[in-house]
Amino acid sequence: MHIQIDDKDFDLLLEYDQIKKRIRLIGIQLNVDYDNRVPVFIGVLNGSFIFLADLMKEVSISSEVTFVKVSSYDGDMNTGEIKKGIGLQMDLKDRDVIIVEDIVDTGATLRYLIDLIHEQSPASICVCTLLLKPKSLKEDIQEITYVGFEIPDEFVVGYGLDYNGLGRNLKDIYRARYVPTET
Ligand code: IMP
Repeated sequence: MHIQIDDKDFDLLLEYDQIKKRIRLIGIQLNVDYDNRVPVFIGVLNGSFIFLADLMKEVSISSEVTFVKVSSYDGDMNTGEIKKGIGLQMDLKDRDVIIVEDIVDTGATLRYLIDLIHEQSPASICVCTLLLKPKSLKEDIQEITYVGFEIPDEFVVGYGLDYNGLGRNLKDIYRARYVPTET
């Protein structure tokens, strides 16, 4: 299936059914790994809001949820500069923290967040991301424990992810169509 958002064409990459099944498995794993603990899920806004909502429906252990807002993207370009929006509102000392990301691209956002959370001396930090672009990753982040799907180094949209603010409401995930530049 093909869609257009703003000036870009996108093709279907992952259907909601596939995403839902993968999230169910991640939820089961989290319930086992964090049995008898009360972790704090930190959703990274804006992109993670749908993933976090679906994930929490699969998490049956006692847990808390909070949010942080950071971003490094402008349109489909990674600016490399982290802009902080809403800061961390919770005391994370001695807590088991699970950072929930929509996508890990270069890893710069995660590196920044992990360093920020470390300052609060949590008991543990791990990362749960729906998507990972292994070829783009520039940081060595040991905390990445739960990964929904590894995807090619392409711009994607839908299921919380946006292009110029649009497309977050799409149920499925789409990849930007490659347009060869004329020489
Ligand atoms: P990183 O800091 O380079 O890892 O980028 C992480 C952030 O960039 C994510 O939380 C997203 O908000 C955004 N991002 C990275 N890749 C994409 C993409 O393909 N589509 C939409 N947003 C993206």
